[in-house]
Amino acid sequence: MGIRAGLRKPVPSMKDFALTGSEIQAFKDGAGGGVKAAFLGAQKRPAHKWTHYLDIYERYLSNYRDKPISFLEIGVMSGGSLDMWRRYFGEPATIVGIDIDPTCAERVDPPNIVRIGSQDDRRFLEGVINEFGAPDVVLDDGSHIGRHQRASFEILFPHLKSGGLYIIEDVHTAYWPDWEGGYKRNGSIIEYTKQMIDDLHGWYHNRRTTTPAKDEIGAIHLYDSIIVIEKNGKGKPGFLASI
Ligand SMILES: C[S@@+](CC[C@H](N)C(=O)[O-])C[C@H]1O[C@@H](n2cnc3c(N)ncnc32)[C@H](O)[C@@H]1O
Repeated sequence: MGIRAGLRKPVPSMKDFALTGSEIQAFKDGAGGGVKAAFLGAQKRPAHKWTHYLDIYERYLSNYRDKPISFLEIGVMSGGSLDMWRRYFGEPATIVGIDIDPTCAERVDPPNIVRIGSQDDRRFLEGVINEFGAPDVVLDDGSHIGRHQRASFEILFPHLKSGGLYIIEDVHTAYWPDWEGGYKRNGSIIEYTKQMIDDLHGWYHNRRTTTPAKDEIGAIHLYDSIIVIEKNGKGKPGFLASI
């Protein structure tokens, strides 16, 4: 490590962001309905979400409520997020969680479903798709390790319905060594997203594209720690003068 690197501030960790008691109360008091109510409605199992994600979910997911959608979440842990999605989306939704930890198979109430396997295992993921059909929404809240996030995206995105959403949470881990991350670390999901931005504009430059963004991605919404990708077979853009 060079002298300058040695003088850098330490990288923050999760504990630096834990809400205080009064902040938690303020969040509850201001929650209202929708996804915040679904989050706070936990009785049996906790969900684990950064609070600013909840408004982002509401913006993109409210159209999917009370419809027969197919929702796939990577990362079950306590099972509380699957319960939250059931409260939010309602009875017609198919809600499937996947996790590498076999004990997660016990942390689910029907009609929610859990399947056990790794998010970078193509055979496993394609089996889940074969069993439950093309998802409308994939939410990656799994290992938060870049090579896993990329593998899941590369396997699942082609199966996502056109018009569907692919959401990746906690991408700040791309900067954290415990998650194989680092600032501008090659292969992190942040660097992959930068590549997607270049590829989305692949119509306008002559470099090789390596992600589906040129042909298949309508928009990449990058927020603090969470990315919402809209699938849309947009094809070649057209330009027109009005007269
Ligand atoms: C952040 S927790 C999920 C939290 C949950 N979605 C919630 O909101 O409460 C991450 C989960 O990903 C799982 N996980 C870790 N590596 C995985 C992998 N390679 N494939 C699938 N799941 C994995 C862990 O077992 C853990 O349960």
